[in-house]
Amino acid sequence: MRAIAIDGPAGAGKSTIARALAQSLGYIYVDTGALYRAIGLGVTLLGLDTKNPEEVISALDNITVTIKFVDERQRVFLNGHDVSEEIRKPEISMAASNVSAIGQVRDFLFSLQKDMATKNNVVMDGRDIGTVVLPEADVKIFLTASPEERARRRYDEQLAKGIEESYEKVLEEVKKRDYNDMNRDIAPLKCAEDAIPVDTTGNTLEQSIELLKQIIFDNLEK
Ligand code: DC
Repeated sequence: MRAIAIDGPAGAGKSTIARALAQSLGYIYVDTGALYRAIGLGVTLLGLDTKNPEEVISALDNITVTIKFVDERQRVFLNGHDVSEEIRKPEISMAASNVSAIGQVRDFLFSLQKDMATKNNVVMDGRDIGTVVLPEADVKIFLTASPEERARRRYDEQLAKGIEESYEKVLEEVKKRDYNDMNRDIAPLKCAEDAIPVDTTGNTLEQSIELLKQIIFDNLEK
């Protein structure tokens, strides 16, 4: 099976770009952030503290996370309920980042991610795909953009969905989440040694998609 790993910070455009790449390659797009979000949501719904490892670990006994593909789109299920929309709420972003720092949570989701890549050709995005989940991936990309541009994109996306949060608040959250994800002890966000770094600051989405298509095309052939 073939695998493309795309890692990078929040708002770098990973999901939109990865989905477009998967479509043009005929691969399955796996959004691993959605899995951490489902756990963040599950812990929150149980009324527990997403920052407290003991509480989060105890909650895992009462949580199941599964994914299904409907019309080629990934849907995420928490205890059998489709939570694909609910996990996009801004407050679930930090909850996901908090629970993702806990080793047991990462272990809990590891085989689900691995299994997807064993059975399918995948474009998988996240924070540790090239470093931990699929270190043998055929092509690894590390996608970045300036915090200000990532916040601007997230702000526009949220506004389009009717979520009103000031740009300053979104920027603050982006920076906080970067810090959390890069400074945790286990599987922190970082560029794998053999990943290709791509900075999309100033690019349109179409330009970034074309750029990555070219990089993947060049590197898959080798
Ligand atoms: O990609 P996203 O913004 O939906 O991810 C939400 C959080 O989940 C992110 O802040 C950190 C965590 N995450 C992770 O630790 N490892 C991954 N492979 C994907 C996401």
